[in-house]
Amino acid sequence: MSLTVYIGSDHGGFNLKATVIEHLQNKGATVVDLGPVDTCSTDYPVYAEKVCREVIDNAGLGILICGSGIGMSMAANRFKNIRAALCTSEFHARMSRRHNNANILCMGERITGVDHALSIVDTFFESEFEGGRHARRIDLFDHFA
Ligand code: RB5
Repeated sequence: MSLTVYIGSDHGGFNLKATVIEHLQNKGATVVDLGPVDTCSTDYPVYAEKVCREVIDNAGLGILICGSGIGMSMAANRFKNIRAALCTSEFHARMSRRHNNANILCMGERITGVDHALSIVDTFFESEFEGGRHARRIDLFDHFA
């Protein structure tokens, strides 16, 4: 798998982050872990920003994990050209790539079990943007103030 993934979490997503990193590395992906390095209480926007800036600068793909996935997705979507999708199903993951060209997968460690989360990760990275009418719709995001 020739893929680079930028990943971050907060304390609520730390354990799932470690599991996802190992899973992706076993598949041959390069994973850039932007923290945190332990489970001490921390602020998820700090890590959302780190991942978003790398994804923007490298036109790459990222993963953000917190307890629910909600805070990470809210924070990430404040960045222009970030399309962060909070996914709790393989369907979400597939459609977020195919129709929304999501560039960040958000998940919640406190809501999604490990096996399910890894399946969502695999689905996300195996799915491709379909372009066409979906590109036109995404371009409309830039009309917002
Ligand atoms: C941390 O307790 C929790 O609020 C955070 O991980 C996340 O779920 C926020 O949306």
